[in-house]
Amino acid sequence: MKKQRMLTGLQPTGVITLGNYIGAIKQMVENQDQYDSFLFVADLHSITIPQDKEELSKKTRSLIALYLACGIDPKKNTIYIQSENPYHANLSWLLECNAYFGEMSRMHQFKEKSKKHENFTVGLFTYPVLMAADILLYDTNIVPVGIDQKQHVEIARDIAIRFNKKYGDTFVIPEPKISESGTKIMDLVNPTQKMSKSAENEKGVIRILDDIKVARKKIMSATTDSEMVIKYDPENKPGISNLINIYISLTDKTVEEVEEEFKDSNYGTFKKKVADEVEKLLTTIQTKYQEILNSEELDKILDEGRDKTIEIAKIKYQEAKEKMGFHR
Ligand code: AMP
Ligand code: TRP
Repeated sequence: MKKQRMLTGLQPTGVITLGNYIGAIKQMVENQDQYDSFLFVADLHSITIPQDKEELSKKTRSLIALYLACGIDPKKNTIYIQSENPYHANLSWLLECNAYFGEMSRMHQFKEKSKKHENFTVGLFTYPVLMAADILLYDTNIVPVGIDQKQHVEIARDIAIRFNKKYGDTFVIPEPKISESGTKIMDLVNPTQKMSKSAENEKGVIRILDDIKVARKKIMSATTDSEMVIKYDPENKPGISNLINIYISLTDKTVEEVEEEFKDSNYGTFKKKVADEVEKLLTTIQTKYQEILNSEELDKILDEGRDKTIEIAKIKYQEAKEKMGFHR
């Protein structure tokens, strides 16, 4: 049976966190045989807000190396950089002329981001149409995204349905897949808040490329309670429960096994064990990351991804263009 096509884009901003790894990437790695998966860096999307031009391509390359280091297998995923394939921006224009100002004005992310930037660009406004092009170029069936992006996938659906009706069947209608099923990792300082890339206090967040000693320290000084019992109770003991979640995610043990293992231990001993597991994970990923980052292998993967996706996208783009009336 033909595998369903799954596609997702990652913005090259902010270094990924332990929360991203446990909540999203680990599952992607575990499920990578299931789908025909396309994974790309949405660098064109990132310039909708100002970017440092010296840093942009470094961040893009670093993010891809990091995903590969986390276990994303280039044989099972088509990996590419959005800006290296001209058909994304080309199709985006055709779709812009089939998308309405009114519907774009209702996008939550635009409303929020445009408030933060005094002089925002038109690109910030048309961002969801480029995202629709990313998705529709490849006959994508499933788009795994965080809840904040659901509205953008829905607008891609609306645009596809409208286009097909107006010009004839052209695009596959994509489905969003909201990735909330994984364990939610909380901030280490404020364990009632989600661990977030954009946290105000760095002590609450472990980033996958953090210095190992610094990461250990963050675990050792994580907020807990005064009870001194290692028991899973997210409501009354959010700090300890969060550390248990991190521990079970990294060891594949169950909550019961962990409670039993540490029934006679104090918080210091438990935290040390959690820190050991985090250290093991980060060391493995960081070592691989360094190997991959400047390798020719990485360039080969990106070249192959670019060539393969250009070939597919070209056909879809030409079909859409001709249906709209562009031909000799
Ligand atoms: P974001 O960092 O918000 O762009 O999210 C990227 C992916 O990581 C999404 O699938 C999120 O659901 C997931 N994710 C982000 N933060 C966490 C967290 N603290 N715990 C679990 N999953 C997370
Ligand atoms: N807008 C997405 C984000 O900020 C990234 C993205 C761009 C994307 N194009 C996409 C995600 C296509 C899924 C499909 O996270």
